[in-house]
Amino acid sequence: MATNNPSNPPSRRDETQLSVDFNLQSKSSSKEEEYALREDYATLHSGEESDLLKRLDRETNLKTLYPRMMSGHLQGQFLRMVTRMINPKNILELGTFTGYSTLCFAETLTEEGKIYTIEANPEWQHISEKYFSESGLKHKIEFIIGNAAEIIPQLDVDFELAFIDADKQNNRLYYDMLVKKMKSGSFILIDNVLWSGKVIDLNENKDKDTQIIHAFNEYVNNDKRVENILLPFRDGLTLVRIN
Ligand SMILES: C[S@@+](CC[C@H](N)C(=O)[O-])C[C@H]1O[C@@H](n2cnc3c(N)ncnc32)[C@H](O)[C@@H]1O
Repeated sequence: MATNNPSNPPSRRDETQLSVDFNLQSKSSSKEEEYALREDYATLHSGEESDLLKRLDRETNLKTLYPRMMSGHLQGQFLRMVTRMINPKNILELGTFTGYSTLCFAETLTEEGKIYTIEANPEWQHISEKYFSESGLKHKIEFIIGNAAEIIPQLDVDFELAFIDADKQNNRLYYDMLVKKMKSGSFILIDNVLWSGKVIDLNENKDKDTQIIHAFNEYVNNDKRVENILLPFRDGLTLVRIN
């Protein structure tokens, strides 16, 4: 889910305008503006988004109420790179939404590879399925409608990479299930761990969701079963390696 990012990151065609904005604003901008500009700059310098993903991004923005849930280009590129580095045979994704991150995984998996993606809400299925078909990668995608907590135990598959991006209140439940299920040397990514920066707020009156996400971050950081890094880009992404 994107939070600090504009829902429509600038395309390469906007590059000149962006660099003008960047020069003007970097002198006087607030921390938030500077951060958003850094993300725009990073997006512009992180490869080219495919036409298919551009169209999916646009349709998600036009037809869904919460397009910011979608990974988008910058995070999508990161997921693609991680997949290329780990070269997993099987990936598990919790939270498909309109399928943007699923396609990033599918595009970079080897021909024998599979992405299992679980989505509780069938509302966006017509969008994700349409783009899965158009991608020519449907043979690599196992799309499962259901509740992640119920589906995970039913999957008798060795996953070398998992992406937790569903209902954030249950991050710890999914994380524990996966740390137990996955083998040593496997990796887990967890999205939205900075929760729009609210976890950093030193004020003790954090709202319930922020408290849960902060407690989860502490839990992972104290978990001797894994090695972990919290990457502070976009809405915060934790990468964990199971010992
Ligand atoms: C942040 S969105 C996923 C975005 C997608 N991974 C991407 O990067 O484009 C979270 C999704 O998780 C789904 N979800 C929420 N609770 C779930 C559950 N218990 N099991 C499976 N999916 C769930 C929501 O319906 C929503 O579509």
